[in-house]
Formats: sequence, structure tokens, C-alpha cells
Amino acid sequence: MKTILITGGAGFIGSHVVRRFVKRYSDYRIINVDALTYAGNLENLKDIDQRPNYQFEKVDIVDANAVNALFEKYNPEGVIHLAAESHVDRSITDPLAFVRTNVLGTVNLLNAAKANWADNLGNKRFYHISTDEVYGTLGEEGLFMETTAYQPNSPYSASKASSDHFVRAYGETYELPYVVTNCSNNYGPNHFPEKLIPLFINNIVNMKPLPVYGDGNYTRDWLYVIDHARAIDLVYHEGLNGETYNIGGFNEWKNIDLVKVLCKLMDEKLGRPEGTSLGLITYVKDRPGHDRRYAIDATKINEELGWEPSVTFEEGLAETIDWYLSNDEWLQNVTSGEYQQYYNDQYGK
Ligand code: NAD
Ligand code: TYD
Repeated sequence: MKTILITGGAGFIGSHVVRRFVKRYSDYRIINVDALTYAGNLENLKDIDQRPNYQFEKVDIVDANAVNALFEKYNPEGVIHLAAESHVDRSITDPLAFVRTNVLGTVNLLNAAKANWADNLGNKRFYHISTDEVYGTLGEEGLFMETTAYQPNSPYSASKASSDHFVRAYGETYELPYVVTNCSNNYGPNHFPEKLIPLFINNIVNMKPLPVYGDGNYTRDWLYVIDHARAIDLVYHEGLNGETYNIGGFNEWKNIDLVKVLCKLMDEKLGRPEGTSLGLITYVKDRPGHDRRYAIDATKINEELGWEPSVTFEEGLAETIDWYLSNDEWLQNVTSGEYQQYYNDQYGK
């Protein structure tokens, strides 16, 4: 039986990756390694957590001894590393938390893999999940390629860039077999409501203001999380060692245009008069260092591995809204407690 450690498996993207691997590969033992921070939620996996090929380990990857012990206990063939602090706004108020988990945590995993795999690197794989934000920002034209120079602008993207460099350096220096993917903005079920789409869905439901940063003309490329999980599965199995693949949705939206579509769909789903949610849009102070535009050229993964998104944005957004509307308890649970404090600090009461 093949053992894979998936870090951050209780989070948004990680939970979709864990579910996919547990369901698809009954001959793999999937170990979900997660510290259960505010963003980690085992409820995300309650449909698969009784399966015999799934196990959970509550481990903070900043703790090197605990990470080493995991490798000794499970002797994994592979690591799919998603655990991270992931929200740009939080990185602006607490950069060190991002250095700890994203940089130190990644190096702890690399060290443990290096030590545990030393005698037999052949069939091993360290797969590091990263973001397009490491490339910085684009003007009106152009796309991020795998060869684009790194120019991170936020503490979040700087910490992810650093972790990408460490992974590559362990490949060069210690011949650790690795692969890296840099993906654009994900959306879908189980997304923590601090990020644009789930935050705005939750606020529309509760008739709260929709805080659009700056002029709202910031552009992101959006990918449905299930399609990211499909790409991760493919790259884990068929990506080439030492390679980087960009993953994107071929789906650029200015924030304000996306928010308007969301408002329209939500009014329809909630049976409210058209225009109700549009009235909640409120322009607020901009995010410092706000990247103007992200856009991904995903030609390499498309041509070399045959990956492309399987759902349109319209389908994905409709499914996402339906999920939030029918998982009110999930939303209630994650927005109680610490979330209220975060919300007040970030947006005022
Ligand atoms: P998330 O914040 O929803 O989940 C992160 C998970 O990591 C949580 O379960 C959390 O408990 C866990 N975690 C955090 N610190 C930890 C620590 N010290 N030890 C162990 N576990 C810890 O994040 P996400 O949106 O699912 O992102 C997952 C990965 O994908 C991240 O590496 C992120 O940089 C990358 N990524 C995200 C996006 C996106 O749009 N969300 C896009 C591209 C890449
Ligand atoms: P976010 O979901 O935080 O992802 P990222 O910063 O990693 O791209 O934000 C997406 C875009 O939405 C980004 O341009 C910032 C903007 N935004 C708002 O306008 N208001 C908000 O309350 C949030 C959270 C984001």
C-alpha cells in the first residue's frame, strides 16, 4: 500500500484533494496532516473520514520533531503539501505567522523527507502546492508563465515564494524529487468566508455590506476547486520531477464585475427582487500593496499533461452558491467565535 501525507487536508483545497485521493485510490493510505488552525475544519471531510484508507494526524508543521516522527511512523512515498497560512489580509497584520508555517513549516517537511528518503529517492515525490501570487502583478496585458520572474508583493506571496525556492533548492542540492504547481484563485464549497467569494455570499445572505477594496477594478483568474484537485491528482502522478506547472481557469474577472454577477445570482436563488444585493456594494479603503492583475498561462499543463478546467464559471459559481445555501450550519460554525473578532478588526462593526 502506498502512503501519501497530504498536509493542510482539513482546509479548503486540501479537503477536496484528500476526498479525491481517498475515493479514487483505495490502495493508497492517505494521511491528512493538519494543525486545525482557524482555517482547518474536519467537518469538511465528514463524508469520507470513516474510510479505511484515511487517517488524520493533528500536527503543526512548525514542530520539526513532530514532523520527523510522522515520517518515521508512516514512511510515506509521497507528500502533497498544502498546509499554509493563506489569506493576504492576515499576512499584512501578522507576517511572522506566514514565515513560520509557510517557510519554516515547509523546510521542516523538506528536512524530514530528505532524512527519511535518503537511501531510496527513486519512487518518492515531494509535491509543493503554490500560488500565482509569487509572480507579483501584471499590467493590462500579459500572462504569468512558468518562466516569469518571482516578484512577490505581499507577506503572503513572499512567504510562498520563499517556500517554492526552498523546494527547488532541495531538489538541486539534495536531489530531492519534487514538483511545484502555481495556481490562480480557487473558489467552491468549503471556502473559508474571509476570501472574496464566500465572504460576499455570506454577507448577501445576511444583508450585510459588501466591502469592495479600492476602485474594484482588480483582476483575478478564478478556478473551481474541484478542477484544481483534478490537476493536483494529474501532476502528482504524471508531472515530471523538477518541473513547475502553472494552473489557471482561463477565466479573468474584474472584482466589481464578478461581484455584480454574484449579486444577480444570489437575488435569483434567494427569491429577492433584482438589484437587492447590488445595493449592498460598498467601496472601502484599499488593501495595501494590492496586486492589480493576475492571469495565468496554463498552456504547459494543458499541452504536456492534457489538463483543462471541466466546469464553466457560471456552472461553478451556481454550484458554489447552492452549496453555501444548503450548508448553513457549516457557515454558522465557522463564523462564530474568532471570526467575529477578525471581521470587526478587518472591516469594522
Ligand atoms: P486554507 O487556509 O483554507 O487551509 C490551510 C490549511 O492548512 C488549514 O486546514 C490549516 O489548519 C492548515 N495549516 C495552517 N497552518 C498549519 C500548520 N502550521 N501546520 C499544519 N497545518 C496547518 O488554504 P487553501 O485556500 O486551502 O490553500 C491551500 C494551499 O493552496 C496553500 O498552500 C495555498 O498557498 C495554496 N493556494 C491557494 C489558492 C486559493 O485560491 N485558495 C490558490 C493557489 C494556491
Ligand atoms: P481574496 O479572495 O482575498 O484573494 P487574493 O487576495 O489572494 O487574490 O481577494 C480577491 C480579490 O478581492 C482581491 O483583489 C481583493 C478583493 N477583495 C475585496 O475587494 N474585498 C474583500 O473583502 C476581500 C476579502 C477581497
